Amino acid sequence: MAGAQKVVEKFHSRYPASAAPRVWHAPGRVNLIGEHTDYNLGLVLPMAIDLACWIAVAPSGDGWLRVYSEQLGAGSQWRVEDIPNAAPNGEWTDRVAGIAWELSRRGIEMRGANVLIDSEVPVGGGLSSSAALGVSLALALGGPSAPLEVAQLARAAEMDFVGVPCGIMDQFISAGGEAGSAILLDCRSLAWRSVKLPTDVVIVTANSMVKHQLGNSAYRTRVEECAEAARKLGVSSLRDATLAGLGPLHGVLLKRARHIVTENARGERFVEAVETEDHAIEMGRIVTEYHISLRDDYEVSCSELDFLVEAALRVDGVFGARMIGGGFGGSTVNLVDPQAVESLKITLAKEYRKFHGLAPEIHVCAASPGASEIIP
Ligand code: GLA
Repeated sequence: MAGAQKVVEKFHSRYPASAAPRVWHAPGRVNLIGEHTDYNLGLVLPMAIDLACWIAVAPSGDGWLRVYSEQLGAGSQWRVEDIPNAAPNGEWTDRVAGIAWELSRRGIEMRGANVLIDSEVPVGGGLSSSAALGVSLALALGGPSAPLEVAQLARAAEMDFVGVPCGIMDQFISAGGEAGSAILLDCRSLAWRSVKLPTDVVIVTANSMVKHQLGNSAYRTRVEECAEAARKLGVSSLRDATLAGLGPLHGVLLKRARHIVTENARGERFVEAVETEDHAIEMGRIVTEYHISLRDDYEVSCSELDFLVEAALRVDGVFGARMIGGGFGGSTVNLVDPQAVESLKITLAKEYRKFHGLAPEIHVCAASPGASEIIP
């Protein structure tokens, strides 16, 4: 409960006169399968990780919603009655106003509150710090507790208030993760099942420490390109496209659609591989194929991510590596033999410093439970 106690202490020093807070937390995520497939209604296989966003909240009693972030070092405040008419201003606090706005749009009564945010999920690290913030806040401010519902609420805030046309994956896994397992989610039916992860394959992330500006606009462009490719193919989403049926597409649209179609197929192969006896090599091979497809067909990688992937693949005992998340920076995920974790850490730190002058933040991930209230 160290995280909970810590956030309570920080809350009291920020809001000394406030009542005792309640504490929620929601994890970041790593995605093993299916990048950019969620908004194309395909398959994803994310897992929640042991880095979380912590939120301490107590009623303010004065009709104001106040927020302060330990990492972003700043805050904002809104009168609760003004929230239905709030508008985004391009700051991180849009994510807070967006959740409050979405709660009020759904008729959930908002009261004044003092909020302290303390997140372990690195901002811009590709591990879904935004979803962890959105989900933990939605719970803390009185949103629904069922994981799918809170995920849908947090995603709606991100899309309709903040203006990011994201899929459901990040919010879903932050709300509904399971210890020891990844979750296979079908983004069309929203049916899911847990996939127990083997203990002889360690999941390690390496943060490139860069986040290229291009990322946000490129994400939007990819969403639009996929919608256009689906229109040209006469299907309602690329989930229904097949490799053999991509004939009417050319150039960029062909590449984007090919990534989505092959990614869904790789998703199914990966889950089969996880569940077989001799899984590590095949899981790794599929993950590395992903990287190539994301780099060459979907074109969302960057030189830093490519470098980290290539350097990792040269280490003995690394089964596979690829970029994760939206792209243009953020992290890679590596599937690693437990014996090889130390040499991977050392190699990446050394090589990346030579290449980029920066040390990548490396995290050995434990598949973790989703968001919940924590009693300190
Ligand atoms: C971001 C989005 C997700 C998903 C990934 C790419 O993390 O928030 O919805 O599209 O990119 O797989």
